[in-house]
Amino acid sequence: MKELNLLNYVAGEWVGENEETFDITNPATNERVGTMPNGTKEDVLAAIEGAQAAFEEWKVLSAEERSDYLEKFYQRVIERQEEIARILTLENGKPLKEARGEVLYAASFIKWYAEEGKRVYGRTIPSKGPGQRIQVMKQPVGVIAAITPWNFPAAMITRKLAPALAAGCTFIVKPPKETPLTAAKLMECAEEAGIPSGVVNMVVTPNEAFSETIQQSEVVRKLTFTGSTEVGKLLMKQSADQMKNISLELGGQAPLIVLDDADVEAAVEGTIASKFRNAGQTCICANRLYVQAGIYDEFVSRLKEKIEELNVGNGLEENVDIGPLINQKGYEKVVRHVEDAKEKGADIVVGGQGQYEAPFYEPTLILGAKENMLCMTEETFGPVVPVQKVETEEEAIRLANDTPFGLAAYYFTENMNRGTKMAEALDYGIIGWNHGAPSAAQAPFGGMKQSGLGREGGAEGIEAFLETKYLSIGIKS
Ligand code: SIN
Repeated sequence: MKELNLLNYVAGEWVGENEETFDITNPATNERVGTMPNGTKEDVLAAIEGAQAAFEEWKVLSAEERSDYLEKFYQRVIERQEEIARILTLENGKPLKEARGEVLYAASFIKWYAEEGKRVYGRTIPSKGPGQRIQVMKQPVGVIAAITPWNFPAAMITRKLAPALAAGCTFIVKPPKETPLTAAKLMECAEEAGIPSGVVNMVVTPNEAFSETIQQSEVVRKLTFTGSTEVGKLLMKQSADQMKNISLELGGQAPLIVLDDADVEAAVEGTIASKFRNAGQTCICANRLYVQAGIYDEFVSRLKEKIEELNVGNGLEENVDIGPLINQKGYEKVVRHVEDAKEKGADIVVGGQGQYEAPFYEPTLILGAKENMLCMTEETFGPVVPVQKVETEEEAIRLANDTPFGLAAYYFTENMNRGTKMAEALDYGIIGWNHGAPSAAQAPFGGMKQSGLGREGGAEGIEAFLETKYLSIGIKS
């Protein structure tokens, strides 16, 4: 594919032609895929100004009119699915089949919120006397700033952008430096859909420059972020100065529990689906497994067979299941976790040999994992499955909840009573019961504890971009 030298999108213009650029490289080959301008503070300020001007017009459109724009936007993304998926694989590394799936997943948020925007309801509340009427109305928050991650270069933008636009807000996104080309392609789709200038804007610029400018602006009313808990905490502190509305989708440390009455095939399939998506680089990937003694041998032997079938390679090649990790830093973290487990007495039964060149890492199965190992206490963000044997479901729940994080948890049991109680006992925002792939546009995605604040997707996802206004009307008798 020809190199892509793309620009930032600000107030309906493609900008930065004369700015210094940086390279975007393919993690599978280390080759240059394209360039982007290093956006400046002036670009961010121009985006804020553009988004503010556009807000005045966009917020007064009817929900139907905004829905029509979003519908056209959705159609453009679908029409350009293959092109966007290839770019996504080139800059992120994920296998092409996953990239195609991600583009559809990204489009599904636009489609869903094109409809949901028509269902933003207020309320009328009975008052305590005849002289008053009480109404509650919903209004768009205003100009929104978003900081999105590299692991889902398309879907993490549309999961924020689509509900924001549907609610009547205007939007500025800062995609990461690893995967800005996919983001620029989404901006092209928005432009082709005729979305008015300034309603969506994109500036690729260093994190600090973006957040500093955004945080100082009184125009930007909300910041929405997907990324690490560490950066999320910093943004939350900075947002306090202006009481900026903030949504945070942060790190996970997902447990996956297999109870002894589980359907082994379903549990193995769910583990593979959850663990190896994007080479283990999702916030909801199963990070650590707790398997009950009665099913342990059968489950582990079947899981081993399945892991051995996975193909590692360049995501553009046929039949690849696992692409490279995003960069050397990500690779080193995985190596550290596996080496730590080895030193503390675990058995590496598949992978873990460093057979592939960095940043490729073999799918790895670790048995005999323990609470004191890094792979059981920190998010590995790689294709590593550590398994700890447990005796009871109480032990599994205790270990699963013993973490400051609370994004996603999974368990496998065929027993209705056990399953229902597990859902209630696990302190997580997203629960997969006999299911390893819970993400969906119509469902609320988000975490408890240090995994974040707020929800994206579903009815909750649009609520995040709405203010509640209470109107008290005095009525003469
Ligand atoms: C994430 O890793 O943050 C998102 C994963 C998903 O939407 O399924």
